[in-house]
Amino acid sequence: MSTPYDELSLKLAELVAEQIKSQPASNLALPTGRTPLGAYQVLVRQAQAGQSLDWSKINCFALDEYVDSHEKDSYKYFLEQQLFQYTNLPKTSRHFPDSVDDYDGLIASLGGLDLTVLGIGKNGHIAFNEPGTELDSYTHSIWLTECTRKANQDLFASADQVPTRAVTVGIRTILASRHIILVASGEGKRAIVEKALHGPVTPQVPASFLKLHPHVTVLTDFGDFS
Ligand code: PGA
Repeated sequence: MSTPYDELSLKLAELVAEQIKSQPASNLALPTGRTPLGAYQVLVRQAQAGQSLDWSKINCFALDEYVDSHEKDSYKYFLEQQLFQYTNLPKTSRHFPDSVDDYDGLIASLGGLDLTVLGIGKNGHIAFNEPGTELDSYTHSIWLTECTRKANQDLFASADQVPTRAVTVGIRTILASRHIILVASGEGKRAIVEKALHGPVTPQVPASFLKLHPHVTVLTDFGDFS
């Protein structure tokens, strides 16, 4: 029997696949974390079953990256392991914000983002734009909040190994994307999704800035926010 998370994953995989099929030279910004994992697994299973998408003209931009993490904890490693290695996405089309001096300039020079997929933190962060991030922000480095470090500590061998710093695309980087999908899984995210989408637009809830964008799709496994 399929779970609400399975349904969410199928839907997200379908939207990513539609984007790639309808616009084979798309620029995608993709998240890491637990929420998109199921969708990546759907895409991998489809590829293994012979229904590969053609990623040869796609550019992928990671939304964020830890500073000073072990290689296996890095978001680059996550995306390579969970998705990229199963695709024909050229190595030169895999972009990571910590290894490019002017990430926003690179995105713009390649034509801008067509689709950005975002998770959301319980504190309202999108990518690693933590509460307090201003609207006028581009790719920058940040200090992770204790809330975020705690939420991610299960993914590390011990709590003290969770990095304290990261590089993230900014709010302006995200809002410049032509289409944005916000994806949230689990009852624990309900309150922040409601606050972001129904409350005031404020730097204290970075996801609330998405209300300024004309084309945001919200996918959750706990309710309809369309
Ligand atoms: P998660 O992270 O998908 O692991 O819940 C989301 C986020 O912090 O943006």
